[in-house]
Amino acid sequence: MPARVLDGKALAETMRVEIAQQVAAHVALGHRPPGLAAVLVGNVAASRVYVRNKRRACDAAGIRSWLYELPEECSSQQLLDLVAQLNADAQVDGILVQLPLPKQIDEQAVIEAILPDKDVDGFHPDNVGRLTIGIPRFLPCTPYGVQQILQREGIDTAGKRVAILGRSNIVGKPMALILMQKPSKAFPMGGDATVTILHSRSRDLVEQLRQADILIAGIGVAHFVQPEMVKPGAVIIDVGINSLEGKIVGDVAPGVAEIASAMTPVPGGVGPMTITMLLQNTLEAARIHSG
Ligand code: GUN
Repeated sequence: MPARVLDGKALAETMRVEIAQQVAAHVALGHRPPGLAAVLVGNVAASRVYVRNKRRACDAAGIRSWLYELPEECSSQQLLDLVAQLNADAQVDGILVQLPLPKQIDEQAVIEAILPDKDVDGFHPDNVGRLTIGIPRFLPCTPYGVQQILQREGIDTAGKRVAILGRSNIVGKPMALILMQKPSKAFPMGGDATVTILHSRSRDLVEQLRQADILIAGIGVAHFVQPEMVKPGAVIIDVGINSLEGKIVGDVAPGVAEIASAMTPVPGGVGPMTITMLLQNTLEAARIHSG
């Protein structure tokens, strides 16, 4: 029997209605609407599409958004000056600098320049540190979206073996931190899972993957995960967005759906949830700023 489809697009639509209601309630209390400043540097086509989709989602939820564009050849200092301006702008609750940035720019310096309470991506070391010790401020949007898919689809992670393929700061590492965490008042999203992070240098990769009750793939290689790498009945979360022969495909090969019990599609799985969690974080930032 083919795997149950974990429909991230439908869940994202439901959650965006909930967030829009919460935004309206926030404004009804007399607060200004939440605001997100998106910064786009250069001309990467995919980044342009992501930022456009993020701003459309803001619009639909009643969140104001502004787009700031800098040329491909801009300096670190120009970008740092813009971030300083947005940090000082009382209308701006969240600042999103779309990654990746051009080579000449010191990406880490830019991330660290964003005020932690406007860092709706959750990439600032202050926010990473908070997540690490179980008192998060903002969860990074992609792993937060995966956590919401698992929770709202009734997939219990407690005690389960979770394999995460990929060790990036945006997906793999924060995903591991969220799912291993003990749930608490400060961290209700904790997952109580036994987590293994696997990457390009991991030995016995296939044996490790085959042990996993839940496999989360975020390595950015089209169709890397093949059916023989998956434990029968496993839950598969595909974070990949790759271009293959003119189509958008995930990190997981289509044949895996015959082995898994449940699987997110690409497109229409994790992607729409990432944007939804950005809206959630921007609302949360507005609540922090409204005292
Ligand atoms: N590039 C790929 N994913 C992300 C993300 O979640 N946030 C930002 N700012 N850039 C990205």
